[in-house]
Amino acid sequence: MHTRDLLIASTLTGLSDELVKLADVRVTAVASLEHASAMITSRQFHATYIDHDDHAPRSVWSVILDANRHGVTVLMGLSPGIQRIQHDLHDAGIMICPVQDATGVARWITAQLGLRSSMHLGSPVIAIAGAKGGIGKTLTTSLLAEGLTRRGVRVLVIDGDLSNSGIVPMFRIPADAPSYLDHASDAVACGMPPVWEPAQLRRLIFGQHPSGIDFLIGADGTADVRDLQRIEWLSLIEAARGLGEYGAILIDTGPEIKKRPYAILAARDGGWVVVPAPPGRKERTGVAHLLHVMQRGIPEHDLSARCLLVLMEPERGSTVTPEHVAPLLNQQFPAMRIIGRIPRAVRQISTADECNDRYMSPIDVDPGSRMAQATHQMVERLCLTIGLTPPLPMPRSPWWARWRRTAAWPASPGRLVPERK
Ligand SMILES: Nc1ncnc2c1ncn2[C@@H]1O[C@H](COP(=O)(O)OP(=O)(O)OP(=O)(O)O)[C@@H](O)[C@H]1O
Ligand SMILES: [Mg+2]
Repeated sequence: MHTRDLLIASTLTGLSDELVKLADVRVTAVASLEHASAMITSRQFHATYIDHDDHAPRSVWSVILDANRHGVTVLMGLSPGIQRIQHDLHDAGIMICPVQDATGVARWITAQLGLRSSMHLGSPVIAIAGAKGGIGKTLTTSLLAEGLTRRGVRVLVIDGDLSNSGIVPMFRIPADAPSYLDHASDAVACGMPPVWEPAQLRRLIFGQHPSGIDFLIGADGTADVRDLQRIEWLSLIEAARGLGEYGAILIDTGPEIKKRPYAILAARDGGWVVVPAPPGRKERTGVAHLLHVMQRGIPEHDLSARCLLVLMEPERGSTVTPEHVAPLLNQQFPAMRIIGRIPRAVRQISTADECNDRYMSPIDVDPGSRMAQATHQMVERLCLTIGLTPPLPMPRSPWWARWRRTAAWPASPGRLVPERK
């Protein structure tokens, strides 16, 4: 790729150095918006990044107009002055950087300009989503987190279900655990842009000892939670990726995919979306709806290619099974892939849930069970599909499970093979 010319008018120390480290760019830095306008009209730039805020909005708009006239892409930083006009900027299709540290901004600029794939610039993000409630999103998040941790991958789980957290009760997160919503409220009260830097975020992480999994919790136990604006959410995710210490970041999302489109944003920014898919009519309509949104949501980007389906077995007695549903979904959404099949395990889950005084994973209730084996298999598929190399091998099933030969092993991603009897 040839060298790109980038013009920056920024107050951030070290931004030019960070940019040059990350990508093949030639940076011209100017000290004011007037200089930026003069440069844009006199030289050819591929893009400009601006975070100066000591000027009237009129000066910002004047640079934007000059840039548009000369075919220069405009990217903005979220400084307090720019925050006041961020909605107008959004409406004008201008991208605003959700972070404020030099490394984060440089990573964001290179990703926006397509200079490097954002996937290689931080921990992979995997959102667990569905357009319907109660389909097993939180259970799948917990199984993926447990399975990845057992493969030696450090996992951060971000609770994105702000109205009805499933993560808090499932993992027995104490009521006094820090909440990222508190930080957002404090920032707004101080008149600061509600953005997160990796160092601030580190203080909000709750490390859960029994599981070894780290959490960022958003729900505070009250029904009336403050919602996050899109830019705040993006800032949170960017800061989490910027921590650099996690092999995977999992986001448990709520059912309101339109109100909080966290899964769409994850897929758009190079992440993945795991979709639990029970076979019932209402549930499969929900799955199809989500995949449609992914397919059509962003013009020219079929985000269904970033969707990984997990087939959920129905309750005993159901007349429809994953074998009916998988081929239909495969046909309608050829770009998505199937990474596993989770058996129904009511007793196992209930035993873990009701375990008296501590958190227990359903896969520890019976490590030789079909659910435990299906979890390890799903994690293996996930890693193969997204290019993650876990440090530890797949746990072997205990001898009694092999002897029972009850594990279900779906075949390669994208195809479904009936359960072995
Ligand atoms: N494979 C399974 N075997 C047994 N029970 C299951 C299975 N999958 C999900 N459940 C149960 O179904 C209920 C809903 O699951 P879960 O909370 O994971 O769904 P969700 O999609 O996160 O729901 P919400 O939209 O409310 O967040 C839970 O009680 C869970 O234990
Ligand atoms: Mg849930």
